[in-house]
Amino acid sequence: MGQKKLIKFAAIKEYENVLEYPQDMQGKWAAFFGALEKETTNIHTEHLTIHPITKPLVVELACGRGEYAVGLGRMFPEQNFIGIDIKGNRIWKGASIANKEGLKNIAFVRTQIDQVATYFGTNEVSEIWITFPDPQLRWSKAKKRLTHPKFLRLYQQFLKQADASNKTGIVHLKTDSPNLFLFTLKVIELYGLNLVYKTDDLYAEATIDPRCLIKTYYEGKDIAQSNKIHYIQFTLDKDLPLSLDEVLKEAIKDIPLDAGELLRMQSYEQE
Ligand SMILES: C[S@@+](CC[C@H](N)C(=O)[O-])C[C@H]1O[C@@H](n2cnc3c(N)ncnc32)[C@H](O)[C@@H]1O
Repeated sequence: MGQKKLIKFAAIKEYENVLEYPQDMQGKWAAFFGALEKETTNIHTEHLTIHPITKPLVVELACGRGEYAVGLGRMFPEQNFIGIDIKGNRIWKGASIANKEGLKNIAFVRTQIDQVATYFGTNEVSEIWITFPDPQLRWSKAKKRLTHPKFLRLYQQFLKQADASNKTGIVHLKTDSPNLFLFTLKVIELYGLNLVYKTDDLYAEATIDPRCLIKTYYEGKDIAQSNKIHYIQFTLDKDLPLSLDEVLKEAIKDIPLDAGELLRMQSYEQE
């Protein structure tokens, strides 16, 4: 491992706003952010107690450098934000910015997203953002896509029910991958989920949700080279029967795969 990465790994171990594989945090995020706000050093998560959520808690999955957690945290000081990623050197970036700017409503968890349901209690999370996740373009890897029903079933365990205002219970997907966009729409259709909003060309829309103007590192990479940013909002208010997973497996074989996108993605995977 390079020297720079080692320094970043060591730094996040000292940061109060980064938790690595934390244990027993379900229901305790209100208490955690309360402690972070008080500038407590050495927050002992094992001493935190379960508190009802007082501020909406928003989670960014596969956050990388955490541009959404930080950008949304600046925009909405009355909400709390958690970025989740496995790569500590990427999390370091967002966590360092939050520390430098004194943003006490932003934290990061270093872990595998497969474990995400173990970190939050029922209804603890208001919204989920997934920005430019690995599209996992090969059919054989479809189960690794973060909008595959396998993952959506995990999110259902902690995401609030949608409400009439369409401000709660929303999963946001922003991607440059036409394949992942079409895959996610197929999931929504097949499992009868509620599609709140979709666009296959976000920046061509007459009005753009200001939250969508936050740009991430991978958005800048333009790996899909589709010249379009796709964006979907949907809710998870239905059961997702396992029996449909086989139907999905067949249905997605019609979605065109861009060989160039596949090659470019592979070259970034090791970064
Ligand atoms: C293509 S990058 C996108 C990062 C960021 N959202 C952006 O737009 O710049 C995908 C991120 O997902 C993370 N990731 C992929 N699979 C993961 C998993 N199972 N658990 C945790 N993080 C994961 C990677 O570490 C990487 O930072």
